[in-house]
Amino acid sequence: MIGVFDSGNGGLTIFRELTTRFPHLSFTYLGDHANAPYGNRTSQEILRLTRNGVEQLFQQDCRLVILACNTATAIAACTLQHQWLPNSPYRETHNILGIIAPTVEVATQTPWATKEPQYPQATNTDTVAIFGTVQTVSSNVYAEEIAKRCPHVNIVQQACPHLAGVIEHGASERELEELVHDYVQEMLTRSGGTPPHWAVLGCTHYPWVRHLFEQYLPETTRVLCQPKAVANSLEFYLKRHPEYLGDNTIAQPIVLTTGATRQIRPTLQRYWPEVPHIKQLRRA
Ligand code: DGL
Repeated sequence: MIGVFDSGNGGLTIFRELTTRFPHLSFTYLGDHANAPYGNRTSQEILRLTRNGVEQLFQQDCRLVILACNTATAIAACTLQHQWLPNSPYRETHNILGIIAPTVEVATQTPWATKEPQYPQATNTDTVAIFGTVQTVSSNVYAEEIAKRCPHVNIVQQACPHLAGVIEHGASERELEELVHDYVQEMLTRSGGTPPHWAVLGCTHYPWVRHLFEQYLPETTRVLCQPKAVANSLEFYLKRHPEYLGDNTIAQPIVLTTGATRQIRPTLQRYWPEVPHIKQLRRA
């Protein structure tokens, strides 16, 4: 069983891609709706909540957990992978993956293991816009990792402090339109009017409003599809780690929440009408 974790509804954009792409694998999703959104919380809180989420998925028989949350990946992934997991009872059998590495790989067309710029990336002067939560943008992880591989790329980061929260709470299309419009305009002002070649929607909530980003971004800007990047990367990872493929007993995708399902289901169904049945998490 593979676990997929996010603060709330966002990671379902990744989960939907994974369950469609790998119908022969079993997936469990956990949304920490009771504590969403994460993006304006402190790093300490994000680390604690992400560790709880990972442990809960481990206890649901998920031996591999994907942090389908850029904020959790930016703030907590390294600490969990290199400090917490190796000192936990799960160290020999379980693993945690983030989603920033696969996204940077696509944005830079460079494998993650390659930390030095290669030709033609060494001469790439594209402009890349990164949209994300306050914590993702202030971690600077996208800018740093892209710059290592493409040192001449012009990176314009745009924090969208309210966007994940309003998506989470089912805001009207009009309210969403206004917010996305304003964030795109702010980004364009910051880039001096240069239309970015690429836009990274660096928060898994944003693909639910991808159509609005596409509406307000310049026509020539291509929007990178993070769910696809993560699915491609997982396929490659599972080839190298078949131990996480499971035992071939295919289960229906499970969606768990720490919140109240009654409140969450209507919002979610608006974005994903066929969303699997949502259950409240029972602690092991
Ligand atoms: N969907 C998450 C992300 O990718 C978290 C957004 C939030 O909870 O603020 O960053």
